[in-house]
Amino acid sequence: METVYLNGEYVSGSAAKISVFDRGVLFSDAVYEVISVIDGRLIDMQRHIARLERSLGELSINASADWSTIAQNLVTENDLQEGVVYLQVSRGVMEERDYRWPAPDTAPTIFAFAQSRALIANPLADRGMKIITRPDLRWQRCDIKTTQLLYASLMKMEAMAAGVDDVWMARDDWITEGTSQNAHIITQDGVLISHQLDRRILPGVTRIEMLDQAKAMELTIEERAFSIDEAKQAAEAFVTSSTLLVMPVVEIDGHKVGDGQPGTRTGKIRQNYLAAVQRASSTTN
Ligand code: PDD
Repeated sequence: METVYLNGEYVSGSAAKISVFDRGVLFSDAVYEVISVIDGRLIDMQRHIARLERSLGELSINASADWSTIAQNLVTENDLQEGVVYLQVSRGVMEERDYRWPAPDTAPTIFAFAQSRALIANPLADRGMKIITRPDLRWQRCDIKTTQLLYASLMKMEAMAAGVDDVWMARDDWITEGTSQNAHIITQDGVLISHQLDRRILPGVTRIEMLDQAKAMELTIEERAFSIDEAKQAAEAFVTSSTLLVMPVVEIDGHKVGDGQPGTRTGKIRQNYLAAVQRASSTTN
């Protein structure tokens, strides 16, 4: 039976119970992180911690823990070689349902679990993803990694119904991001365009390392929004996330991107990204 973490204890998954009065359950008053694990090592843990602490700060949730040790213990206890660690923090339990927050000293609910998943040997890397675009109807603080994921979930179901892999969301024709990935294109002139960091997108951890790799490959980088039309005209397109890493996109709203095959520069970025994170995790974890 898997071992999970709940409020200071490591217990079996079936023994981990939280209250129906938890604000995470009632109001999605909670933030989370998904950290990839490759070769039994946590990838980019320090950046995930920095983003978690920022999310907590933006929502004034008082929570601190040795995030790194919790994640590492779950990897060890569950003998996880490849997959993810999921970590969630809610504002805690409030017996009387109320929109207003409880006292700041209310104990947060912290839990985490590890799940095995093939990240590197993902068949999508060879065939590339097909995506459709849809309006971005999420709230205006997408920079905070909250558990309000219903719109993203609705969009994944639309993608499934349309027979494609995912959705890129757009505000007024400007692509923001994928349902659970950051979105990027490489233009016909070889410029990598990635949405600037603002409240419309999640500041992806994978995006940071990807941009470093792209810079090392001497690609010109523009951090700005791009339109749906620009994306369709692009030479290459791809997404980044802790679960997909760097993943090519080959079709947008039925239009082939480039020649309809995973882009060569995207492939190189993925390869270099993997090499870099594996090198870094072997020295920092
Ligand atoms: N999602 N944008 C959104 C909306 C996301 O949910 C995610 C990650 C990203 C990529 O961020 P990162 O590179 O730090 O994983 C961008 C995770 C994987 C999830 O919800 O499962």
